[in-house]
Amino acid sequence: MTQAIRLHETGGPEVLRLEDVEVGDPGPGQARVRHSLIAVNFIDIYFRTGRYPLALHDGVGSGLGSDAVGVVEAVGPGVTGIRVGDRVGYLLGPQGAYAQVRVMPADVLIPLPDGISDRTAATLMMKGMTAQYLFRQVYPLKGGETILYHAAAGGVGLIACQWARALGVTMIGTVSTDEKAALARANGCAHTIVSSRENIAQRVREITEGKGVPVVYDSVGKDTLEASLDCLQPRGTLVSNGTSSGSVVIDSQLLAAKGSIWLTRPAMVHYIHPRPHMLDMARELFDHVLAGRIVSEPQQSFALADAAEAHRALEGRKTIGATVLVP
Ligand SMILES: NC(=O)c1ccc[n+]([C@@H]2O[C@H](COP(=O)([O-])OP(=O)(O)OC[C@H]3O[C@@H](n4cnc5c(N)ncnc54)[C@H](OP(=O)(O)O)[C@@H]3O)[C@@H](O)[C@H]2O)c1
Repeated sequence: MTQAIRLHETGGPEVLRLEDVEVGDPGPGQARVRHSLIAVNFIDIYFRTGRYPLALHDGVGSGLGSDAVGVVEAVGPGVTGIRVGDRVGYLLGPQGAYAQVRVMPADVLIPLPDGISDRTAATLMMKGMTAQYLFRQVYPLKGGETILYHAAAGGVGLIACQWARALGVTMIGTVSTDEKAALARANGCAHTIVSSRENIAQRVREITEGKGVPVVYDSVGKDTLEASLDCLQPRGTLVSNGTSSGSVVIDSQLLAAKGSIWLTRPAMVHYIHPRPHMLDMARELFDHVLAGRIVSEPQQSFALADAAEAHRALEGRKTIGATVLVP
């Protein structure tokens, strides 16, 4: 018997309940992983609230979470490349990472290098890999660009700040408080805009001497859409990679009016397969960490039983950087 967070209905943080669950032996192609840390991501809130579909089974409900690190304690038949005792992390697979132990498809597990601690790895799987695919695949940065990045002091954001600096990119980051602004700048964000009291588009035009930016990475969504469009150069790209403030609904005519803007709404799942590519992405991320160009540690920890508190903090914009649950 082990413990896991289960949901029997979607809704507010109170639907997250710690329950005793049975975890069996891994079947063909599977591995059983004992988690050391579980990462909390904004996407977990989309699933918890029902914005993203969650399969709730009668009597057992559903697990939550898709991002954790730990040790492999058993492997099923046919598993190659993953062995008992391996330190691993993952960001794909079925919901259910909010658990002490679970069975996972072995082909989503990413072996962790010796030089990267579990604490650091727990901030890298979803968040670091997101920075990788945004900056290196969705709108590949070459260095020398000035970009706008929303929620620069968030979980993905603090890694993005450092990755931008490593690439020689000038990042303008939005944040809601002065404390978050200072943290983003300490992580390599060249300019910060405190969105609670500054006009984002006006400040971006000032910083870029009227030119605007070639790309905006916008994970905030509804509240920042207009400002993001107003910051872009003609034929610039809006990467709408999240909807923390609500969904984006857009009339395509607006894209023409704002300068023939390219709009993409990327999802990790379309940039991470096949497995050798996922491992290459992880290797690039780990190389930055091992070389000290990206330094990342959780900024908030909660007990697994307090997952609801972690969700309240994240959706209440009370967190900075990465948040983890301790099983
Ligand atoms: N497309 C993908 O494949 C993909 C993958 C991973 C993550 N994401 C997205 O990337 C974003 C960042 O994820 P994360 O887990 O690292 O979260 P996070 O950035 O740590 O937290 C979200 C941040 O968004 C800002 N925010 C602005 N308006 C908000 C509102 N109305 N409610 C809540 N937050 C608001 C807050 O920062 P301030 O207080 O500074 O404004 C908050 O801290 C999320 O939107 C997530 O869905 C997308």
